[in-house]
Amino acid sequence: MSNKDTFFLSTPIYYVNDAPHIGHAYTTVAGDVLTRWRRQRGEKVWYLTGTDEHGTKVQRAAEANNVSPKMWVDKLVKEAWQPVLKTIDAVNDDFLRTTEERHIKGVQKFWELVKSRGFVYQAEYQGPYCVGCEEFKLPGDLNEVAGEQLCPVHGKPVEILSENNWFFKLSEFGPQLLAHYEKNPEAVQPESAYNEVVSFIKQGLVDISMSRSAVSWGIKLPWEDNQVVYVWFDALLNYVTASGFEADKDLFEKTWPADVHLVGKDILRFHAVYWPAMLLAAGLPLPKCVFAHGWLLVGGEKMSKTKLTGISPNQIVDYVGSDAFRYYFLSAIKFGQDGSFSWEDLTARYKAELANGLGNLASRLTAMVGKYFENVLPAPDIYNDEDKKIIELAKNAAVAADQAMVKLDFSSGINQIRGIVEATNLYITEQEPWKVAKDPTQEKRLATILYVVAELLRIVAVLYHPVMPKSSQLLWEGLGAAEVLGELSGQLVSTTFEFGLLPVGAKTSKGESLFPQLADDE
Ligand code: MSP
Repeated sequence: MSNKDTFFLSTPIYYVNDAPHIGHAYTTVAGDVLTRWRRQRGEKVWYLTGTDEHGTKVQRAAEANNVSPKMWVDKLVKEAWQPVLKTIDAVNDDFLRTTEERHIKGVQKFWELVKSRGFVYQAEYQGPYCVGCEEFKLPGDLNEVAGEQLCPVHGKPVEILSENNWFFKLSEFGPQLLAHYEKNPEAVQPESAYNEVVSFIKQGLVDISMSRSAVSWGIKLPWEDNQVVYVWFDALLNYVTASGFEADKDLFEKTWPADVHLVGKDILRFHAVYWPAMLLAAGLPLPKCVFAHGWLLVGGEKMSKTKLTGISPNQIVDYVGSDAFRYYFLSAIKFGQDGSFSWEDLTARYKAELANGLGNLASRLTAMVGKYFENVLPAPDIYNDEDKKIIELAKNAAVAADQAMVKLDFSSGINQIRGIVEATNLYITEQEPWKVAKDPTQEKRLATILYVVAELLRIVAVLYHPVMPKSSQLLWEGLGAAEVLGELSGQLVSTTFEFGLLPVGAKTSKGESLFPQLADDE
């Protein structure tokens, strides 16, 4: 019987040839929102991220900067990759660096095992290699431009290698992988990614080098000192070396197989073909889902440092804050599709949806409870049809948001929550509490309207917490909910399917603005 009790989500581990750009932060934010959401469903969660530190690309970056690869990676990881998690407000449970001993040992044990099971042999590799992708390219992968073979992702000529390497018998696993994907269509998502993977496998798999003889910056093959493990066959193993394979049986049984490997679509083949084949070769269970998201584009092309189109997460977070960063990328782009970033769009959405939408709603409510009820949430009277309608709307939206988020349909999930905010703003405009307040005989109606709005905001705070932890926290405090309901992070998503949980008598306060004016508007 399986002991697995933990939802395990991973990001890819990032190359440390350079500092992070928003394309990298995008994956990490998506993972963070999903894991926070799952935690608020009361699930046990383990969120893994890290850095991919070996290989030619990193080695060359270090050489170009006249430092050793180890000095280079140590500096970049400490000064850029680990701090970016804080910048975007991501909370991971582990951060694996492939230069760590626990990983190196695990990788060597894994390949010993696969070799002992007869899936590794020595042969000559001759063919194209893209250092940007760190990938042995297949004939159909390349674009021919003016007689040169270019990598379609990096737009750069490939290098032609001729090396005596060790090979992994990938070709043996085609039928097993096809059977697996036929039986588990949810194992690769979205559907376009699934189709791409299945058709790639159907074309026939060829064996692939699992070692490099011409590279020195890597993990030594346990059976041959002068070769290193091919960087992808080192990196992919992070998912099991971090989760306890060979080192912590208890952790491994609780976490493995991974529930979701989040990846960009450029690294789908590694995750949905090579990785499961490696696991089959080692006799380990396969991950439940590989989800491939799209690219952030600049000028119609993948944003990349190589092409000098990378925007650093700090540039955006310094301007709109980490909450708006998280909200923007997950709501403006459908997860699984490509999307273009523009400052204009970011600013427009910040103002309309966050500052004037949610921010304004929260300040209207706390101002009115302050003015009319001395900051003490009043008891509602009988709900009329308008009240019942919006209560029902919120309930349906909360259920729909939950369904969308667990399917990684973040934009639809956020849309549902935003729908509650918009409907509530409209409700206030229509109910005109400021007019009701003028008639002393209507005090009960005024109390009902404000209670309804406060309660809808409680629901919004809980639902938005995984997406925008900081402003939801401010909202929670403004509602006086922390004192009576406890920590916001402890509120289950299911509490948003119910209405009336915010206790009467909660002490509201008009705290700082949830979404302050942007620097250029002041
Ligand atoms: N080191 C490998 C992954 C190994 S996982 C075992 C790698 N690293 S990477 O730094 O190049 O990319 C990491 C992730 O960032 C990938 O999922 C990639 O798709 C994503 N992105 C890099 N640029 C991107 C955009 N412009 N847009 C969206 N995501 C992008 O590949």
